[in-house]
Amino acid sequence: MTRVWKIGVAGLGTVGGGLIKYLAEFPDFAPAGGRAVVTGVCARSRSRPRDFDVKAYAWHDDPVELAKSPETDIFVELIGGSDGPAKASVEAALALGKPVVTANKALIAEHGAELALLAEKTGAPLLFEAAVMGGTPAVKLLREAMVGDEVISVAGILNGTCNYILTEMEIHERAFGDVLAEAQAKGYAEADPTMDIGGFDAAHKITILAALAFGRAPSYAAAEIEGVEQVELLDIRLARELGYRIRLTASAEKSADGGVSVRVHPALAPIAHPLSQTVGATNALFIQGKKIPKIFIQGPGAGEGPTAAACCADIADVMTGAVRPVFQRPAARLQPFGSVNADGRVGRVYLRVMVKDEAGALAAVTEALAEEGVSIDSFLQKPVEDEGRVPIVLTTHDVAEGKIKDAVERLAGLPQVLESPRLIRIARP
Ligand code: HSE
Repeated sequence: MTRVWKIGVAGLGTVGGGLIKYLAEFPDFAPAGGRAVVTGVCARSRSRPRDFDVKAYAWHDDPVELAKSPETDIFVELIGGSDGPAKASVEAALALGKPVVTANKALIAEHGAELALLAEKTGAPLLFEAAVMGGTPAVKLLREAMVGDEVISVAGILNGTCNYILTEMEIHERAFGDVLAEAQAKGYAEADPTMDIGGFDAAHKITILAALAFGRAPSYAAAEIEGVEQVELLDIRLARELGYRIRLTASAEKSADGGVSVRVHPALAPIAHPLSQTVGATNALFIQGKKIPKIFIQGPGAGEGPTAAACCADIADVMTGAVRPVFQRPAARLQPFGSVNADGRVGRVYLRVMVKDEAGALAAVTEALAEEGVSIDSFLQKPVEDEGRVPIVLTTHDVAEGKIKDAVERLAGLPQVLESPRLIRIARP
């Protein structure tokens, strides 16, 4: 006889609504596991207009009650936020040994280790495919398919809103604020768009991927985060002249001292590079392993359909019993990311230095860089912009982060330099 799994859905936004409509249409999407039927729902407002009939499901004001309800076999948390009702309801479900499916990247990145312990204690699956890259299966790829290899690094584009903004700014020369408003209207951006443009959303996602890739406790506080707020149209234009596009990249790799380095920052990628070719709200990820040298996946990172499909994939895992450890290892043995020597990391950078249009300005800049031991790879000087200000643009050869930071500080102190130089890293090939 077909087993019927009763699904409780907390949070009826874009993803929750999509999941409910999909399961109403295809409750037998995973026939090997049984039938998935939504029984109870919960959201902030019952009366808000929705494109499905909310009265068809048992209403709960409190997500914790929905999680505990005997009518909930699988609890799906789509409320969002690292704490508050999202965390309380997930904990309530796990404490009772109930499987949890969530799209909540902040919750998993910030509390994943303690939730994994609880899940392990009660034997409850804790699944979050929809938390990273929407419908593009990055979580399962690392949790399941890459187990036979040793991952060296993961890196890519994990925030659709920022990628949409950077693409539109480059192609249509549109202003930042204008494109952000459009990304919000299209439903890509978080409720608080600072999470997107400040790099925090991408940092939550790469923290989760790093934990899966390296079998560590997700350590969000260890992530180095720089958003796209400082990226100007001028840099986008200059980068293009040098043969690059600017992308918000997220990366994680094991450091030489045994830690895991996790970073989010804008980066220049050559125009033909797959990251530069990832346009609009699309996400992309490179995974480098010891035996499998390079995998590249690209696909939708947000939106109703893809994210709801990712939740269904997790529901199918619960129904068929195909569940793995939350972060590769027994939860009690998970180590944090540990510390890394950030100043010792080496890479190429783009530098834009705004100088006075006067004799000796260029020489002062190159001399300061030479004295700091920074070697220049390419150079571009644009005609005077306005009122005697000239942008000098350089790319460097490989340089240690500590060294380039010192050089930028020194440049900022030169009398010819009008504002703090802009530094953007160049993505590795
Ligand atoms: N705000 C997120 C993004 C949505 O733009 O990628 C998906 O997590």
